[in-house]
Amino acid sequence: MAMPVVDTEYLRQIDKARRDLRALISSKNCAPIMLRLAWHDAGTYDVHTKTGGPNGSIRSEQEYSHGANNGLKIAIDFCEEIKSKHPKITFADLYQLAGVVAVEVTGGPTVDFVPGRKDSLICPQEGRLPDAKKGVPHLREIFYRMGLSDKDIVALSGGHTLGRAHPERSGFDGPWTKEPLKFDNSYFVELLKEESEGLLKLPSDKALLDDPEFRRYVELYAKDEDAFFRDYAVSHKKLSELGFNPSSKTGVKDAVILAQSAVGVAVAAAVVVLTYLYEVRKKMK
Ligand code: HEM
Repeated sequence: MAMPVVDTEYLRQIDKARRDLRALISSKNCAPIMLRLAWHDAGTYDVHTKTGGPNGSIRSEQEYSHGANNGLKIAIDFCEEIKSKHPKITFADLYQLAGVVAVEVTGGPTVDFVPGRKDSLICPQEGRLPDAKKGVPHLREIFYRMGLSDKDIVALSGGHTLGRAHPERSGFDGPWTKEPLKFDNSYFVELLKEESEGLLKLPSDKALLDDPEFRRYVELYAKDEDAFFRDYAVSHKKLSELGFNPSSKTGVKDAVILAQSAVGVAVAAAVVVLTYLYEVRKKMK
């Protein structure tokens, strides 16, 4: 599918959609599932074949029916309300914008959002997202395939500060933190508090404690929330832009430069006309 033209109208719709998403997410308390939707659309990226990634393909029935995506149809349908009001925006941009807004409205860091992602309906093969029952080598294999690093793995896992597991969706149950609608560093604090009963720990969460490199970041983020917010914002932006190439980013800059030069031309034309009128009036006197 074609690259969207990120012109002034597109940017206006992005701004409106951002406002509508804030209202929708606050009224439905659906920040966690919106963040999970953004992550699952993006997390299929394969850096070697340049397939998958944040391209809106998760809206196809074939893809949202993958086991890892259980429950995400709810979030896809919420986004449909926004899409029908702002039809120029691609699904790919809309899902990533929803993820960014979900983090923002729950008190998390501001994640920079650049529009212009292309839509696709090509469904990646099943099995590209991480399996919660597996450990360290699996996590590395999955995230390295996306082109992400150890630091990204730990920072992004902090997304589990939001939401909970549902037995009918994943077979796991319960929230990771005591306030699952607040974005903070409590995921890491709880992870280190081995004794805290009743809160969720997946085998993949525990893996973050097993590996010394992962654990270093867990300990840092548990004691320094600012460091977590800084790294999270960088890693989330990377995730949201996997396979989204810079030429489409310069498209935005080009639109701005074009708008600026249009203003310049208009001002120059006005000066010429006014000077002419002034001269004419002078002659008439
Ligand atoms: C590191 C590997 C990961 C594994 C194995 C994993 C696994 C899971 C599982 C099993 C659930 C429960 C789903 C349910 O039953 O509803 C879940 C929920 C969730 N995940 Fe992850 N996840 C991972 C990484 C991430 C990342 C990188 C993010 C975002 C940055 C994220 C955000 C979420 C959110 C927000 C929920 C809660 C959804 C809700 O409350 O409905 N996860 N994850």
